[in-house]
Amino acid sequence: MKPLIVANWKMNPATLEEAKNLFDQVKETGAVICPPFVYLSALRANGAQDCFWEEKGAFTGEISAQMLKDLGVEYVILGHSERRKYQKETDEIISKKIKAALGAGLKVILCIDRISQIKKDLQEIENWKLKIENLTVAYEPLFAIGTGKACPPERAEKMKIAVKKFLGPDTPVLYGGSVNSQNAGEYVKDAGFDGLLVGGASLKPVEFIDIIKNVC
Ligand code: 13P
Repeated sequence: MKPLIVANWKMNPATLEEAKNLFDQVKETGAVICPPFVYLSALRANGAQDCFWEEKGAFTGEISAQMLKDLGVEYVILGHSERRKYQKETDEIISKKIKAALGAGLKVILCIDRISQIKKDLQEIENWKLKIENLTVAYEPLFAIGTGKACPPERAEKMKIAVKKFLGPDTPVLYGGSVNSQNAGEYVKDAGFDGLLVGGASLKPVEFIDIIKNVC
């Protein structure tokens, strides 16, 4: 299968004009592009960085999974370590969000940095062993995120094997953390990851396109 390459723009770029410019350069790559919410409708991007667990109501500042679906979004990142850290998202909250996202027909990219999070993050989903065909797991070790210190591929591969042992061999597993065009192939071609979740390098169009060229 073709590797799944996901761009997590985080809270970048600073202006809509820059976002349009960046998007125009990478939109033909087939990657999932996850911009900030406020750029989604202008770009018609296929990925989002979060969603709320309720369908509607008095939840100031929140965005529902169905609202994303209505905009044409296909994938949503949930459980990113930056949300666990800055928004104090717990496994219980993440689990409710996963349930809502899968219920709205979105594909979920669940970020973890250790195996024990998977079971907790799926606690809200009854019979989850039978219902996770729209789930992708992204292994993002904390020490590798935004540090330039990518995880050694052999070490990351052990996590990939552990995730597939837990969720089944068909669950796609991505690697994320200081991915660049030099190391991308080591994760996909050598360590056998199903794709990549790219932060900083996804904001540099030439570098991002090189990542895709080096793994496809
Ligand atoms: P970097 O690629 O900047 O390390 O970020 C990884 C990440 O958090 C993607 O979700």
